[in-house]
Amino acid sequence: MTNVPNVKLNNGVEIPQFGLGVYKMKEKSEFMEAIKWAFEAGYRHIDTAAYYGNEEWLGEAIKESGIDRKDLFITSKLWNSEHGYEETKAAFEKTMKKLDLDYLDLYLIHWPTANYVESYKAMEELYKAGRIKAIGVSNFQIHHLEDLMSQTEVVPAVDQVETHPYFQQDELRTFLKANGIAHEAWGPLGQGKNTILTNEVLTTIAENHNKSVAQVILRWHIQRDTIVFPKSVHQQRLAENIDIFDFELSNDEMNQIKQLETGERFATSPDDEEFLKASAQKKID
Ligand SMILES: NC(=O)c1ccc[n+]([C@@H]2O[C@H](COP(=O)([O-])OP(=O)(O)OC[C@H]3O[C@@H](n4cnc5c(N)ncnc54)[C@H](OP(=O)(O)O)[C@@H]3O)[C@@H](O)[C@H]2O)c1
Repeated sequence: MTNVPNVKLNNGVEIPQFGLGVYKMKEKSEFMEAIKWAFEAGYRHIDTAAYYGNEEWLGEAIKESGIDRKDLFITSKLWNSEHGYEETKAAFEKTMKKLDLDYLDLYLIHWPTANYVESYKAMEELYKAGRIKAIGVSNFQIHHLEDLMSQTEVVPAVDQVETHPYFQQDELRTFLKANGIAHEAWGPLGQGKNTILTNEVLTTIAENHNKSVAQVILRWHIQRDTIVFPKSVHQQRLAENIDIFDFELSNDEMNQIKQLETGERFATSPDDEEFLKASAQKKID
């Protein structure tokens, strides 16, 4: 029913290249409806995090859907205030209890706050025990990855970082490719900010293909081998976002989009120590 391709991670696990992100879905009714529409439209990969506060609803939605567990790919993330070896194990159990699942497909360190090596070592153990199918990181810069990989055994399966046509992450991408780490894009639509969805170049390309700008951006990610999970709570947009597997951007169009790089993030830098420290104090339930 769905033509979303799978990407093979560095340990052989397959992840659907397209899914749904559920950040900022704070109302239960809105969340349950969005997930139901997404499943109906063929989404099988959901990206959540302990920080998003909706793991429990996701567990419920999965049960209600009746979809086979093995046909779903579920990611969650360790929050910044729960770092450390024992703390990570406890946080993982809390996540699993909320999701009410036997295993997790992918578990990520949400941000590179202090202690990420100890946290990752706990994740390695959970991975080796079969509780998690793949482990990885998010918001890690090259220097964080080098530091982590020099002190741990399992090469992260993915790095999930802010990526969109205005911030393409080319240097990090090259590093990830060279090290067999898959690139996941968060904020793939630039979170709808800074007029990205009305950009002239993207609008012209979209008109040429009879597609929306959002579809062109998502297709660009797919053709760069990036894994994406745009967030939407609207049925029409959920259907629109997954409808990107029946057209192809030409090399020339890919090159035009390449020129849109601004070198500037929309969101917080992973090297912002003040943010990392403050967020590590932010307790979650
Ligand atoms: N690891 C991290 O630190 C991190 C950080 C941020 C996000 N993430 C993950 O990445 C996922 C996606 O990123 P994101 O949610 O920040 O941003 P995004 O997916 O780039 O953009 C979401 C925004 O775009 C709107 N939108 C969605 N589809 C649209 C369409 N077809 N046309 C016009 N507007 C559209 C949504 O509004 P409506 O909902 O109103 O449709 C929402 O405001 C998150 O949900 C989360 O899972 C991870």
